Amino acid sequence: MDIKAVILAAGKGTRMKSDTPKVLHKIFEKPLLGYVLDNVKNITNEAFVIVGHHAEEVTEFVNKNYESAKTVLQSPQLGTGHAVSMVCPSLENFEGQVIILCGDTPLITEKTLKDFIDYHNSCSSDLTVMSTIFENPTNYGRIIRETDNSLKCIVEEKDATPEQKAVKEVNAGIYCLNWSKIKCAFSQLTSNNAQGEYYLTDIISWGKKNNLNVNAYILGNSDEIYGINSRQNLATATKIMNDRKLADLMDNGVTIVDPSSTWISEDTEIGADTIIYPATYIEGKNKIGQKCKIGPCAHLRGNVEIADNCKIGNFVEVKKAKIDRNTNAGHLSYIGDAQLGAHVNIGAGTITANYDPISKTKSKTILKDNVKVGSNTVLVAPVEIGEGANIGAGSVITKNIGEWALALTRAPLRIIEKWVKH
Ligand code: UD1
Ligand code: CA
Repeated sequence: MDIKAVILAAGKGTRMKSDTPKVLHKIFEKPLLGYVLDNVKNITNEAFVIVGHHAEEVTEFVNKNYESAKTVLQSPQLGTGHAVSMVCPSLENFEGQVIILCGDTPLITEKTLKDFIDYHNSCSSDLTVMSTIFENPTNYGRIIRETDNSLKCIVEEKDATPEQKAVKEVNAGIYCLNWSKIKCAFSQLTSNNAQGEYYLTDIISWGKKNNLNVNAYILGNSDEIYGINSRQNLATATKIMNDRKLADLMDNGVTIVDPSSTWISEDTEIGADTIIYPATYIEGKNKIGQKCKIGPCAHLRGNVEIADNCKIGNFVEVKKAKIDRNTNAGHLSYIGDAQLGAHVNIGAGTITANYDPISKTKSKTILKDNVKVGSNTVLVAPVEIGEGANIGAGSVITKNIGEWALALTRAPLRIIEKWVKH
């Protein structure tokens, strides 16, 4: 089946009180919009992102990271229905399905989207909207049903009567449409409502009026459609995402000593029998092997690959690094833009000096297998240490070191006997 995604990301996000467009606010260093795009990547063959507010920044993010996504400009932004109408020219002759999502709803999963599309197909639906039950439905559109329980319409909070406001079934903002049957709705929407906007939600009553098969898919886990409109929402979503990830890791054999102080991004893979100690923060995309020990108080910043049986101890920060098996960096170190072989030992306080603040460039540090680095060493990149070489404690290494060599930069130790007494 030919399925396209339309992701709404043109809105202002006023309640974030930010210069950054809402959909580029981040959870674990990944923008909200990135989560939505990643979740549709495998189930659709093309995604259209509707951009408007801060369009250049959002477009740059999409173009840089998502090949099969296109951005479409909506200017001015006249509402969610108006936003979707922007893709009508691109999809004029399209015969397949379109799923519509919001760029500010990052907790939705690929599995739920698949179930949603399966449901749409199994009902031979023309239009399906995702709904869920919220104990506190404030701010969401309410799903209004007929007495026979079939769908009637969606009413926005600002347009709702007190009776409608009491309804706890809300619109998740995710839709599946048989495009050729629904596309003409977009030229017929009106902005005759409290916000003076063209509401996407009005396609439900439009579909009913036009005798189409309109259904709601009620999602059990309402966390997944949690929308982000404020900084508090952002913190809550981060926590939900983290709890979900930690539970999944523990189910797959990873020990998390203290889930309440451990943060691990969705895009981090961790092998069985690895132990994550308290106060560890892991962001971005990473792959950690089996039987490793990470933390307490470790910080992995993304693009980190750690093989089996490694130890990344307390106050160690790792970024963009590939670390082979049985290698340890136990204490107080920075490892960035680095490649570490197997059986390497990094002494406490070792720093890869990867950044040149004058040229603003970053360079790589390479340590071959069995290298031993003494404590308090600075490895000034670009630099390569050959297999088995040893570096004496307190060294500043500015040149490549050959295999099995000993390298040290050290002022001679002076001892003046009984100096204190004299
Ligand atoms: C919308 C729904 C509401 C639903 C809720 C779910 C409408 C009218 N209301 O409300 O029923 O319960 O989502 O989270 O659809 N956007 C544009 N262009 C615009 C306006 C908005 O692209 O002109 C985008 C925003 O960037 C955002 C999304 O559409 O990603 C939703 O807009 P928002 O203003 O957050 O709508 P809600 O009030 O949350
Ligand atoms: Ca919203």
